[in-house]
Amino acid sequence: MRKAVCPGSFDPVTNGHLDVFVRASEIFDQVVVGVLINKTKSSLFTVDERIEMLREVVAPYPNVVVDSFHGLLVDYCRENDIPAIVKGLRAVSDFDYELQMAQMNHRLAKVETLFISTNPLYSFLSSSLIKEVVTYGGDITGLVPDSVGERLIERVRGAN
Ligand code: PNS
Repeated sequence: MRKAVCPGSFDPVTNGHLDVFVRASEIFDQVVVGVLINKTKSSLFTVDERIEMLREVVAPYPNVVVDSFHGLLVDYCRENDIPAIVKGLRAVSDFDYELQMAQMNHRLAKVETLFISTNPLYSFLSSSLIKEVVTYGGDITGLVPDSVGERLIERVRGAN
């Protein structure tokens, strides 16, 4: 079985992420969406909440599964027999850091990284920008799955 992992924080998942998962799922037999457990980084949603939202939005795609990991991504890949990482590339500004990580992951464990060019509809999207827009009352319709948008509004505006 050809497996790939789409790693990230997904705080929260956006339609840009979802587009990458779905396109990767058309190439690989199984795509694992890997949520990084990072206790040093503050997040709006807990890992469990992020996993729950991800599971809801990938439910229509039977070969996309959601899991979490901590530590090095390549260790997770090795333990789960995953030879490839798939990432979305939004713009040239993503490239330097992504290339550095791809080269390090290859150096560490010979895990390959494949980049999918982000759909131009979503190339300006990031989870942090979405959170900022919601905080100040902007409309995020069409940028995140509806169920995620509802939770975001509840979390961000409910706190004010
Ligand atoms: O959504 P993010 O926070 O931009 O995703 C970054 C992520 C999770 C892909 C990256 O930080 C990662 O792979 N972290 C796991 C730790 C690791 O393997 N670090 C070495 C990378 S070369």
